Amino acid sequence: MTERGSVVWPPAPIKTERLVLRESEARDRAAFIDLFASPEVGTYVGGPRSRDELERTSPEVPGRRFGLFVVELDGSMIGMITLDQRDAERPGHVRPDAGETELGYLFLPRAWGRGYAAEACAAALGWFADALPAEPVVLCTQTANDPSMRLAAKLGFIEVERFEEYGAEQWFGVWRPTYDE
Ligand SMILES: CC(C)(COP(=O)(O)OP(=O)(O)OC[C@H]1O[C@@H](n2cnc3c(N)ncnc32)[C@H](O)[C@@H]1OP(=O)(O)O)[C@@H](O)C(=O)NCCC(=O)NCCS
Repeated sequence: MTERGSVVWPPAPIKTERLVLRESEARDRAAFIDLFASPEVGTYVGGPRSRDELERTSPEVPGRRFGLFVVELDGSMIGMITLDQRDAERPGHVRPDAGETELGYLFLPRAWGRGYAAEACAAALGWFADALPAEPVVLCTQTANDPSMRLAAKLGFIEVERFEEYGAEQWFGVWRPTYDE
């Protein structure tokens, strides 16, 4: 187990209507390689990586770290969600002096277009809001990445600014938890 502040990782698996969010396991290795080697997945996130190299260099249990959820459907990994500390050197901030947590999401193409990413991200944000109440979550995505832009809006992210990075226009937004009175 690891900790960030008062938050202990990993949490118990999170179950949604159709999915399970959990820590990565050795049986996810092939799906991680599929994800990072996929040209479709890589279109707006730096391109695909070499499958041969991934096969050679991926650890036995890839992605086992604080804030990385494997998303499972019917017992198999279909994608991953990350809640990482955003690099303070990068452009885009809502509270530069206090550290910022950034949401990331990568799903296998066969799982696109079914609402799985939205369902899983909403659950991950709900976990985060319970674990670290009142902390904002930021998100950065290329404006050309239409499915990602739609997902950010659906999840309730609000635009903060746009800027150029990696030779493309980036959309930077923030999500803040809402609590029932
Ligand atoms: C970004 C990404 C996760 C979006 O995936 P997605 O499946 O389009 O997102 P959602 O889960 O919100 O699903 C929405 C789609 O499911 C459809 N859908 C079907 N059944 C649904 C249901 N039961 N509930 C909700 N939506 C449903 C919606 O109509 C919508 O379709 P549309 O895109 O044609 O309008 C995916 O494209 C991806 O992994 N891309 C590669 C990685 C990437 O670029 N990540 C961004 C890094 S910043």
